[in-house]
Amino acid sequence: MTIHEDISTVLLTEEQLQKRAAEIGAEISRDFAGKEPIFVGVLKGCFVFMADLMRYVDLPCSVDFMAVSSYGAGTSTTGAVKINKDLNQNIEGRDIILVEDILDSGVTLHYLTQYLEVRKPASITIATLMDKPARRKAPVYARYSGFEIPDAFVVGYGLDYAEKYRNLPYVGVLKPEVYADA
Ligand code: IMP
Ligand code: MG
Repeated sequence: MTIHEDISTVLLTEEQLQKRAAEIGAEISRDFAGKEPIFVGVLKGCFVFMADLMRYVDLPCSVDFMAVSSYGAGTSTTGAVKINKDLNQNIEGRDIILVEDILDSGVTLHYLTQYLEVRKPASITIATLMDKPARRKAPVYARYSGFEIPDAFVVGYGLDYAEKYRNLPYVGVLKPEVYADA
């Protein structure tokens, strides 16, 4: 039994993921030259992409995390966003780079952006690994977007189904029978 058996198609390979992380890291290094941004990861899905991305960023910067829940074990959004873990530092006057695994309905990032704006950061910029534009319900602009993907539920490289598959080194689509067993 291996977790790879549950995957029907590999959507993004390890090589593609590394190449894009390097490109976005270089872009951020250029765009934020002379600044000292705070990378804010949206847990848990962000953790693999963020770890790779940050190592391609050549800037003095710090790291923080927020945890929100918008999904249960299922695969579709409830619309409700709950803050489970907030930032540990003052962000007033700071440049924030919000790092997400995937921009889906946009509800999470739309909410988070407004939630953080109140604290008067100098800027809030979104960096998402993946974007499913077909699913958008709330207006969100991602300045850095790794890949536009079709409307399919994906796992791996940080993304889960019922908390599993985050450790797959690539992004893939689950076989339908995996959901049927749930
Ligand atoms: P949004 O608020 O609908 O944009 O949801 C964003 C969050 O939903 C992401 O951070 C993921 O945690 C989760 N999500 C959305 N689509 C997928 C997917 O295809 N696989 C795994 N998680 C997903
Ligand atoms: Mg998530």
